[in-house]
Amino acid sequence: MSKPPRAAGRIAVQATLKPRELMTDTPDIAGTWTAKVITLFPTAFPGVLGESLTGKALKDGLWQLKTYDLRSYGIGKHRNVDDTPAGGGAGMVLRADVLEKAIADAHLGARGTTAPLVYLSPRGRRFDQAMARNWARADGVTMLCGRFEGVDERILQRYGIQEVSLGDFVMTGGEIAAQAMIDATVRLLPGILGNAESAVEESFSNGLLEHPQYTKPAEWQGLSIPEVLLSGNHAKIAEWRKQMSLEITKERRPDLWEALKDSED
Ligand SMILES: C[S@@+](CC[C@H](N)C(=O)[O-])C[C@H]1O[C@@H](n2cnc3c(N)ncnc32)[C@H](O)[C@@H]1O
Repeated sequence: MSKPPRAAGRIAVQATLKPRELMTDTPDIAGTWTAKVITLFPTAFPGVLGESLTGKALKDGLWQLKTYDLRSYGIGKHRNVDDTPAGGGAGMVLRADVLEKAIADAHLGARGTTAPLVYLSPRGRRFDQAMARNWARADGVTMLCGRFEGVDERILQRYGIQEVSLGDFVMTGGEIAAQAMIDATVRLLPGILGNAESAVEESFSNGLLEHPQYTKPAEWQGLSIPEVLLSGNHAKIAEWRKQMSLEITKERRPDLWEALKDSED
């Protein structure tokens, strides 16, 4: 028989033999934004998310991370999770019947919560700041990390899983993409960034790339900080920054520039 939960403030720690609890490195905190990650490499987490602001916030219970070890849902003595592609070809494909069990544990039980279920995939919609904002407004996100040739298409069809890409390149697995997307989302949650303003002014927050930044020393290798930034004139500084933002966006990202122009028409 399992022991009753031990209460530690808002945190309830319960001993259970369910695979997901064994993979969880933080206790369950009700109502907290939660990233759930289905992966063959749970020890890759929290990875870089355990550092700096996201790491401190994780320790402080401002968000939580749960990993679901795909291997523990595998079939037979060897816990097989994949098989050869139907129709032939190179590599292996993650089985739908194995993924289904992991998804049931990670996602389907969480009734009444709003968390998108996504598959990290180079074929997916490109992840961007707007998506991070939407995910930050939800109760969390459930991510399926692929490996090998990817997943059986039927799992995506059956559960209406959204495919999301980190960019137009192919990695060996979804774990790095998952960490990048979780990082971008978690820093938008209330109370995570030390200076709440920094999320307001940074790149993409208003459809523009950020202006250049400088710090001490005022002179370095013959290069000076633009005078206006040392003037103490806040209106002029804001005007200069806006102008630089516009110039850099126009020069580097014509797509963002056009979108901005269209939104003004
Ligand atoms: C080698 S890739 C599979 C690539 C797949 N055969 C294709 O051509 O689209 C293995 C896994 O890495 C992850 N992955 C690779 N590139 C990614 C990207 N750009 N964004 C998100 N996930 C990616 C996916 O989860 C994918 O299932």
